[in-house]
Amino acid sequence: MPAESLRLSARSDDGRSFIVANAAGSAFVAGSLIVIVSDRHRQLALVEDRSETTPVRLRGRLIGELTEEGMNTRASHTFEHGLVEAADVATVETLHETTGAMLEVGVGLTQPGGPARLLPQRFNRHTFWCGQSGSGKTYALGVVLEQLIAHTALPVVIFDPNSDFVRLGELHPDATGPTAKALRERDIRVLRPHGEPGARLRARFLGLPLSSKAAILQIDPIADREEFNELIHLRSIIESGELFDVLPQLLAGENAAQRRLAERVENLGLLDWEVWARQEPAVTEIVGERPDVTVLDLGGFSTPEQQLVVALSLLDSLWERREERRPVLLVIDEAHNLASPRLDSPIAVAVRERLIQIAAEGRKFGLWLLLSTQRPAKVHPGIISQCDNLALMKMTSPADLEELGTYFGYAPAALLERSPWFRQGEALFAGGFVPAPALVKVHTRLTREGGSDVRVPMR
Ligand SMILES: Nc1ncnc2c1ncn2[C@@H]1O[C@H](COP(=O)(O)OP(=O)(O)O)[C@@H](O)[C@H]1O
Ligand SMILES: [Mg+2]
Repeated sequence: MPAESLRLSARSDDGRSFIVANAAGSAFVAGSLIVIVSDRHRQLALVEDRSETTPVRLRGRLIGELTEEGMNTRASHTFEHGLVEAADVATVETLHETTGAMLEVGVGLTQPGGPARLLPQRFNRHTFWCGQSGSGKTYALGVVLEQLIAHTALPVVIFDPNSDFVRLGELHPDATGPTAKALRERDIRVLRPHGEPGARLRARFLGLPLSSKAAILQIDPIADREEFNELIHLRSIIESGELFDVLPQLLAGENAAQRRLAERVENLGLLDWEVWARQEPAVTEIVGERPDVTVLDLGGFSTPEQQLVVALSLLDSLWERREERRPVLLVIDEAHNLASPRLDSPIAVAVRERLIQIAAEGRKFGLWLLLSTQRPAKVHPGIISQCDNLALMKMTSPADLEELGTYFGYAPAALLERSPWFRQGEALFAGGFVPAPALVKVHTRLTREGGSDVRVPMR
């Protein structure tokens, strides 16, 4: 690359951003890392925009000062005349070491390439993961989770509606190295609707807060005040076990409101739901044991409401116990199932409202969200607007990209615009969890995928 012989000149008036007024002939593009050498400093910088006007102009941000010892990302300086060099892989390594970016998730797609790494410490924020169907979200998310699970002690709970993560505990036989070794030692539980005893995905009705019980039973505190009142005093009717165990008793009893409540339970078909824990451990109890990973295989229940009940019971209980401040990463794949602004059934609304609350207030209690979906409009704005990390995969809709730009001002527009041309497995990472916004090709998975695409049978 003839960058040095071109001797591009940069200036920075504010010590934060820079501009190269004439970059004709250079190959730097949005996403390229460069080093700017001025009288007194060597500074690492990111090109965020390349104009296609004449003369070609580059703009970007200064990332930090390169020093004898390494790098200082807290310092950047003004200069009138700086010479632009291409950054090399060793400089990027220095950036990663300085910032603590140690989760290697792929390789950089722009100059100078080399390993792409995320900061594990910054998963203490909420993350939004977006890309159209088939862009490779679930696969890439798996790569990132493998790294997090192997190299941190942060418990992860995966809400998995398509059984995509049910084999996360199984490594490919040829997977070697420190990440694979660490993954083999992790406690990874997979809870399924029809799993083995002790590994079934279950929830306890009586353990739910009143508002959630009412949502499941579709009881309104005013319109159905007598039944609602029975619900308040349910604990006095049921000494042990579940509501469902005393149903015959309620149906046969003298109390009209209790009878109506019991009829409602029967009419809604709640007795046939397999989700109720009864003698088995509930999801809240298993997650409470703090395994390294708990995969909740939410598909496969006989009715769609049951996955909402599981989500609601777990989110309620984590919220209720928030003062314990025990960190957990809640990964929600196909997040529109639980967080869409268009959900309108009482249980779904209860789940979404809890997620909005966790998005707004959960961070300081260690309740961190990672939501993956196809379009920004599919997740409630009250949740997306709280996300400090962005992973964007291929997305062709200009309107969706524009919307993302309004939420994620820290993602350079010129990098967002690359998204329609991403190949499967390519992503833009921006926000706190990456040392600088980066276009990345994600690595290959070490663990097995669950329900991948069904192939066309061939003769
Ligand atoms: N980086 C990758 N390398 C190899 N195969 C991939 C990669 N990303 C996705 N795939 C495959 O492409 C298909 C769709 O990917 P997936 O992650 O399920 O997309 P999405 O979740 O965005 O719909 C899956 O069968 C998956 O195995
Ligand atoms: Mg997916």
